[in-house]
Amino acid sequence: MSTETVNLSDRGEGSQDQISGEIQAKHAEYRQKLDAGASPSVQPDLDFAPYRSSILRHPTKNLRHVDPEEIELASPAFGHTDVAELESNLTIVHSGEPLGERMVVQGRLLDGEGRPVRNQLVEVWQANAAGRYIHKRDQHPAPIDPNFTGAGRCLTDDDGWYRFLTIKPGAYPWKNHRNAWRPAHIHFSVFGTAFTQRIVTQMYFPGDPLFPLDPIYNSIVDQDARDRLVANFDHNLTSPEWALGYRWDIVLTGSKSTWVEPEGDEA
Ligand SMILES: [Fe+2]
Repeated sequence: MSTETVNLSDRGEGSQDQISGEIQAKHAEYRQKLDAGASPSVQPDLDFAPYRSSILRHPTKNLRHVDPEEIELASPAFGHTDVAELESNLTIVHSGEPLGERMVVQGRLLDGEGRPVRNQLVEVWQANAAGRYIHKRDQHPAPIDPNFTGAGRCLTDDDGWYRFLTIKPGAYPWKNHRNAWRPAHIHFSVFGTAFTQRIVTQMYFPGDPLFPLDPIYNSIVDQDARDRLVANFDHNLTSPEWALGYRWDIVLTGSKSTWVEPEGDEA
């Protein structure tokens, strides 16, 4: 079979070529706005058309303010004593060693002034080395690793550091369009001081060839903001004869963030 024959199936409606073209058009439109003096946009576009399901399920109304005490009655909560040191090691959950490339993922949680954010619950979840999640909705034909669940958590220390020992996740296919593949990534949640403050994001790996093709990664239209989702390989974090090392800092908004109207001033 010639290369051309293979590629033909990737053209047309719902193809990677079409999605990539839409992504490039969205990014060109954003750069034009920047050139015209618009402020950088560092959050994902909520209705980013190349990410097909975002069109139907993104919020269409303003956020509702709720009584934080009332919502806490029904929301998840955690106590500091509930988070055990071992939960940051995703490679020792089962009786055997998980397959794949062992790695340390380490970084600091910082506010907008560069100050450490201490005692924060950081949670991660990820696919195994073959790109498979243990989840009933993930049925693609890659092997489940009986020694890898893919979930962990830890608290940041006094200097804002978190650290996980895990396995490098694989890329995986998804149904956004024909032959769609997600770049390898780890999902991160930072809890805040209440469930209403929780943020969720994704960390990626340097040099992934799937970056330009992925509508989720590219729904953040600002290149610098996208780059901040990519970890750095850090030889100083490697563990000799044991694991490679990646560094990824998470910077929350702080006093340098854009001014917003205080609550209650809405007209
Ligand atoms: Fe994922």
